[in-house]
Amino acid sequence: MLKVENVTKRFGEIRALNGVSFKVGDGEILGIIGPNGAGKTTLFSIISGFIKPDSGDVKLNGRSIVGKKPSQLVKMGLVRTFQIIKVFKHMTVEENLEVANFNGKTSEILKSVGLWNKRSMLAKNLSQGELRRLSIGMALATDPKILLLDEPFSGLSPKEAEDLDRIIRTLNENGITQVIIEHKLKELFNLAEKVLVLNFGKVIFEGLPDEAVKNEDVIRAYLGSVRHA
Ligand SMILES: Nc1ncnc2c1ncn2[C@@H]1O[C@H](COP(=O)(O)OP(=O)(O)O)[C@@H](O)[C@H]1O
Ligand SMILES: [Mg+2]
Repeated sequence: MLKVENVTKRFGEIRALNGVSFKVGDGEILGIIGPNGAGKTTLFSIISGFIKPDSGDVKLNGRSIVGKKPSQLVKMGLVRTFQIIKVFKHMTVEENLEVANFNGKTSEILKSVGLWNKRSMLAKNLSQGELRRLSIGMALATDPKILLLDEPFSGLSPKEAEDLDRIIRTLNENGITQVIIEHKLKELFNLAEKVLVLNFGKVIFEGLPDEAVKNEDVIRAYLGSVRHA
């Protein structure tokens, strides 16, 4: 469904991405982990059309999508959510969904992200978990086939994380492919069939979560620091 081929991106002297390649199959949940600054968010920005790679290609169902705008990609079914949640704080939950590209399924989406009872509440009064679910609901309002989630579990309580886990699973059962950047490994590894590890802009591991935690390079680059964090 999604293919990233040898993508490179520099910001001045910083090589944010250095020859990154991987594939995401239809219906898969792929996890992406790696230390801060590894290039994870930059990768999402490139895939979703917010920035252009210096070289390399990104293909959606076999067609190159490099150079397409985020709005064009949304129409093709590829949507991202942001690490820092972007909603209209002075609008209600329901109004936020309606401006997000109304597909006529507002009540269905509100129910699917567990916000039906909060639909008339102003977004600024929502909890972190509710805000996160609203931002996912806004992505769902565009009928995505593939969803890129940047640290969806960050700042959530264990209960909120459980709710989000259930929502992500249900979306997946409904055929939405997902790529999830996440530092909360327990939550991520419950969901992801496969994991990609980035370090200094390079893929240092690709495989099963169980194998990632045993991999020497992954432990050295990332897990060591997470364990002690
Ligand atoms: N717009 C930008 N301008 C300059 N440097 C950037 C920009 N975006 C990211 N970077 C740099 O690129 C590297 C990768 O950043 P990022 O993709 O945000 O990493 P991650 O999401 O893995 O923490 C970092 O060194 C970061 O400072
Ligand atoms: Mg990031």
